Amino acid sequence: MFGDQKVCFSGVQPSGNLTIGNYLGAIRNFSEFSELYKTFYCVVDEHAITVRQNPAELRRRTYETLALYMACGLDPEKNTLYVQSMVHEHAELAWILNCYTMFGELSRMTQFKDKSTKHADNVNAGLFTYPVLMAADILLYQTDVVPVGIDQKQHVELCRDIATRVNQIYPDLFTIPEPIMPKSGKKIMSLVEPTKKMSKSDENTNAVVYILDDRDAIIRKFKRAVTDSGAEVRAAEDKPGVTNLMTVYSCFTGKSMEEIEREFAGKGYGDFKLAVGEVTADALAPVQKRFAELMADKAALEAQMKKGAEEASYYARRTLSKMQKKLGFVQIH
Ligand code: TRP
Repeated sequence: MFGDQKVCFSGVQPSGNLTIGNYLGAIRNFSEFSELYKTFYCVVDEHAITVRQNPAELRRRTYETLALYMACGLDPEKNTLYVQSMVHEHAELAWILNCYTMFGELSRMTQFKDKSTKHADNVNAGLFTYPVLMAADILLYQTDVVPVGIDQKQHVELCRDIATRVNQIYPDLFTIPEPIMPKSGKKIMSLVEPTKKMSKSDENTNAVVYILDDRDAIIRKFKRAVTDSGAEVRAAEDKPGVTNLMTVYSCFTGKSMEEIEREFAGKGYGDFKLAVGEVTADALAPVQKRFAELMADKAALEAQMKKGAEEASYYARRTLSKMQKKLGFVQIH
């Protein structure tokens, strides 16, 4: 809470290859939050370096991520959009919070366990304290709600524990945040294994439709999508493939599952899959066009980053300085 305004904060990894799952399940609904909350969306480049990055690529993806969020409908006048490393308070508060986070707590984080197995040759301290930086991101803005996927829920819980611990010593220093899942979001499944969530890091790119895929790729991927036995376009638990495609169609057209069943009654899977591909490509075309325009004007994107960072630091500075004062750091104004 800042003043009488509730705050919503979310961090996004600098990866340009967001999927229609990210779009339909989350980003498309983010703009609703700006009506209800003061919203901050941060491109977390400091989190990204916990695994090795190619610098040129990291830089490019940072621009792309910001541009993609704007292209998906986040208005920079209504939302604070910025890059984490441009607001130094994040790293500074993270250090302080490290001293209020227990080794045992971090050892229990399932993402740390997974990532340290996956990157066994580089189990660095940053990978271990990743959730503390995330807690700093959230707490700096006195955040009330954090829209996250289920995989990040444990990190938000830890953030709450850290904030509660600090508040026990220094009452009311931090707002205790709540993780939330966007209400109107739908879970989109893999096109190859429809019982698994569509994931941007899936090695089989046929399983995933990216927001920036071109029309041909989108139509080809839906044509090849795994469907179920039978030939009817009908939503059912034992028809996860068709049901998933119907969900995509429904999200892009606004039609209900029953309407879709009626529309495709008597038609085969082939016609249906082509229709899903077409509505998806049509819906993404304006997003892609806007993305290309934004990426073509680097100077404007940089001006946006600068403005976002200035807005964010105004709030971040207040919280950090409050914490530093409580701790006994000398402050000379
Ligand atoms: N760890 C999150 C992810 O991988 C990204 C993130 C960083 C984040 N800081 C955050 C999400 C703060 C929510 C709030 O998706």
